[in-house]
Amino acid sequence: MNEIKDVAREADKADRCPGITYTDMLEGDTRTPPDYLFEETVADMPDDPIPVDPYISEEFARLERERVFPNVWLFAAREDEMPDPGDSVVFEIAGKSFLLIRQKDGGVKAFYNACLHRGRKLRTEGGNSIQLRCPFHGFTWRNDGSLKEIPCAWDFKHLDGKDMSLPEARVELWQGFVMITENADLPDFKTWLGPAASHYERYDFENRYTGMWIQKRIPANWKATAEAFMEAWHSVTTHPQLLPFLGDANTRYDHIGDHFNRAITPSGVLSPHMKGKDSNYVLEKMNEFSGGADADTNRRFAAGDSGDEFDPADPLSARKVLAEASRQGFAEQYGHDYSDASDSELLDNFTYNIFPNFAPWIGYLPTLTYRWLPGDTPDWCIMEIRLLFPTPKGEERPRAVALTYIPDDEPFAWAADVMGPQLANVFDQDMSNLPYVQEGMKAMRDGMMELGHYQDSRVRHFQTTLRKYIDGELPA
Ligand code: FES
Ligand SMILES: [Fe+2]
Repeated sequence: MNEIKDVAREADKADRCPGITYTDMLEGDTRTPPDYLFEETVADMPDDPIPVDPYISEEFARLERERVFPNVWLFAAREDEMPDPGDSVVFEIAGKSFLLIRQKDGGVKAFYNACLHRGRKLRTEGGNSIQLRCPFHGFTWRNDGSLKEIPCAWDFKHLDGKDMSLPEARVELWQGFVMITENADLPDFKTWLGPAASHYERYDFENRYTGMWIQKRIPANWKATAEAFMEAWHSVTTHPQLLPFLGDANTRYDHIGDHFNRAITPSGVLSPHMKGKDSNYVLEKMNEFSGGADADTNRRFAAGDSGDEFDPADPLSARKVLAEASRQGFAEQYGHDYSDASDSELLDNFTYNIFPNFAPWIGYLPTLTYRWLPGDTPDWCIMEIRLLFPTPKGEERPRAVALTYIPDDEPFAWAADVMGPQLANVFDQDMSNLPYVQEGMKAMRDGMMELGHYQDSRVRHFQTTLRKYIDGELPA
């Protein structure tokens, strides 16, 4: 007991994992990282236990469908899925279906995907559309949603003069993401999201394209699945192969407003859980993982750029080398100038989450973007993973690659040729927990979870916002 108290007292003093902090790393960067990476914004939240009911209850899932999803901005599609007029995407979430269509003026409209006659879905999949003709009896609309034709019009004289245009949800185009909401009163997306909206501006997201796109059904609640990606400290037991080059316990967690939180997990440093290894080891292991340049090549990059000698004893020297390798490698690959890009923005894992189900990372790397789509019971969801690649300089933004849907009984490794074997392995490791999180939550005697104060703080922040929607406190 005393030992536990001692540890707690120590944590009270530091309140962080002992050792180098993420801010120390930013300060040791070879460039000056943007201010928003330095800003620590930790919400003041209590430490009381969290109920598992929201993850397992049918009634709670019903309340989410009624109160949460219609009242938030949702990531519905990437613009690169629908570059040309008439291109369409079917976006389905929480029992609703929307049909997004690129308009002639470059805008996007989001129609409720249902015929106004007897309600058949107008489309079950995307593709280029000339017009919207319902397959049941042939009611037809133009791509802009105006009514074109009613078959057997003699039988619908009562509709003369009535607006029979397809109803629309609100749409905003933001950084190449098509955002929609059913709520007419929400502020515009950037205001709703808050300051984090500006964190995307340095990385030209509008010109990125979906170069890797995976979906898989996960036998766990959508929130439990999302939360498995909100903290990095499960790496020590779930992803031990990452510890040689991942600052899992150095991760910074921030919460800004109701709708945004982030984790920043540094790469190219030894995990605080590992001792007695130098920066040579970090380089070697990270290169093995990423299939990047060999360590000698990396050391030459470092020497060539800064003239500094590579110092294996300096815990930050591997970061500098790896960042310089990326700076030069990306310039060759994409033709853009990365000379001002900080080491941090070239290396680290920026797990940004936008409430409720959208995680578009930032940074200069091809960035991961996650989305979680709830199932029709609380016990499953779809997890989507994309990589957004920069468009090479002077080229037209490529169209999104086709979605790869992993069969339900196959692991992520089934798609190893699409996502890379190392990344697939990391997701399979996460999946080795999730079905048992869902089952274990139901097995808890008291149905209450105890969270870490700092490292689980994003889970608490997310649950706090969710509760505000369920209780009617949000949307404001
Ligand atoms: S349901 Fe669409 S035309 Fe009848
Ligand atoms: Fe993980």
